[in-house]
Amino acid sequence: MFSQLFLISTLLVGIVTVAIGAPVAIEIPQTRYGNLTLNRRFISGVPGLPQCIDTNFPDLVNSFCIDENSIRAYCAPANNPSNQKECDTGCPEDTTCMDFRTESEGGPYAKFSICISDKSLKDFGEGGSGKVCKSFKTDIKSDKGTVSINVYDSTARPVQVSSISIYTHNQVFTKSNASTYSVIINVGSAVVETIKACVEIAAGIYVAHVIYAEINEAFGLQP
Ligand SMILES: *[C@@H]1O[C@H](CO)[C@@H](O)[C@H](O)[C@H]1NC(C)=O
Ligand SMILES: *[C@@H]1O[C@H](CO)[C@@H](O)[C@H](O)[C@H]1NC(C)=O
Repeated sequence: MFSQLFLISTLLVGIVTVAIGAPVAIEIPQTRYGNLTLNRRFISGVPGLPQCIDTNFPDLVNSFCIDENSIRAYCAPANNPSNQKECDTGCPEDTTCMDFRTESEGGPYAKFSICISDKSLKDFGEGGSGKVCKSFKTDIKSDKGTVSINVYDSTARPVQVSSISIYTHNQVFTKSNASTYSVIINVGSAVVETIKACVEIAAGIYVAHVIYAEINEAFGLQP
């Protein structure tokens, strides 16, 4: 469902070094609009497809996955985040739209999405009614990382499940009635970590994909 307009090349890079320095251990597609500064004007350090391509509305306020193949961004003029305009971007082939969030540190946080190479994702789900869990050995090597789960139905649309839970060695995160959940985890000094993710599916709901992504970093909002 991506538009040719937005897609010139699907060159995939293994490690992208973002402005704030830490390597991101996911594969991020590059496109014609490969000028990542535009994308990072508002949410610092967010890599991936530039989502605000109207030069009058260059600042990414936030974005989310409309479906498995497209991002809807809310874009604003420089220094005027309240005047927002929607901008939809298709994901390159062999990538999936995943939702993430920035750190909050007590204040507000922003949601953003990235089209991530399917090779970097783990899809562990398919099924109806009941609890589906899976454990993942994490690749997060910094103090903090971002873990996200997106749940899609067979038509590639987000589908709401009863709960999404993420368990680390010392933290439990749970969200009810959601189709996506993104958390910042503290890895601390742990070397090898396992992360368990569970979704609870209500009767009558059919889930085609439960997709797990992790980024070796926590993103912040620009001051
Ligand atoms: C990135 O975008 C900015 C703003 O449109 C532009 O001034 C700059 O030349 C671009 N940089 C590259 C490398 O394309
Ligand atoms: C989730 O949705 C169900 C059914 O609509 C509702 O009964 C329940 O209270 C909701 N739970 C939360 C925590 O919002």
